[in-house]
Amino acid sequence: MSAQILSGKIFASEFKEEAKKQVLALKEQYNITPGLAVIIVGENPASKVYVNNKHRTCEEVGIYSEVISMPADTTKEQLIAKIDELNYRQEIHGILVQLPLPEAITKEEADILNAICPLKDVDGFHPVNVGKLMIGQDDGMIPCTPYGCLKMLQSAKINIDGAHAVIVGRSNIVGKPMGQLLLAQNATVTICHSHTHNLKEICRSADILVAAVGRPHFITADMIKPGATVIDVGINRIAPKKLVGDVDFDNAVEVAGAITPVPGGVGLLTIAMLMQNTINAAKLQLA
Ligand code: GUN
Repeated sequence: MSAQILSGKIFASEFKEEAKKQVLALKEQYNITPGLAVIIVGENPASKVYVNNKHRTCEEVGIYSEVISMPADTTKEQLIAKIDELNYRQEIHGILVQLPLPEAITKEEADILNAICPLKDVDGFHPVNVGKLMIGQDDGMIPCTPYGCLKMLQSAKINIDGAHAVIVGRSNIVGKPMGQLLLAQNATVTICHSHTHNLKEICRSADILVAAVGRPHFITADMIKPGATVIDVGINRIAPKKLVGDVDFDNAVEVAGAITPVPGGVGLLTIAMLMQNTINAAKLQLA
């Protein structure tokens, strides 16, 4: 039997509708419009597309949006000075520095991201927010992609409590925070990576399998327990106009109980959750 398809489009529009209502409520109750500043350094074409999408989604939801374009030869000091200016601007509640940074300042990425005030860190990458997630303090910012995956699981009423959740990939942006979020929901969490022994067996024991490795079709149907929920976070370009996930979808869909497609899956949730994080940031800054 074919799996239930968890459509990112449907969940993203549900989450954006929720966000719109919260924006209206903030306006009514406090006369505040949440504001997001996105900094893009250099001319990376993919980044430009992502940043435009963020700007358009802000407009759709009613969030004030500023896109700040800086030249490719921007220094770390110049970028941090810009971040600092935004840290002090009251109408800006969220700050996002689009990654990847140009090669000349790639090595400075941690210093640059750490310059963002944790209350405005809508990416959830600042060590203060990473720490809050780790110890279960709920006044931090959660990285958008895993936050979206969790919200989708909850909205789809997939059981997490007591489930074995296996995450393939241990990145700071997806794998590790996804593990923390599912653990906080009482899942038993296993995080696998390139050195893991018996990967297939571990994956086959998952009730919830999250693929975030960045390798096309890495998760094959024989690695999936019949009926499991499969979340594919991978976006891999295998031809100029062909994107595929980390999961071999065409075969996996015959085994899984529920599965996200690529494209049209969790990628769409990431921007929706950026909207939610900007609203959460505005609420935190009310105090
Ligand atoms: N580039 C690709 N994904 C992301 C993301 O989630 N945050 C930032 N800041 N840059 C990205």
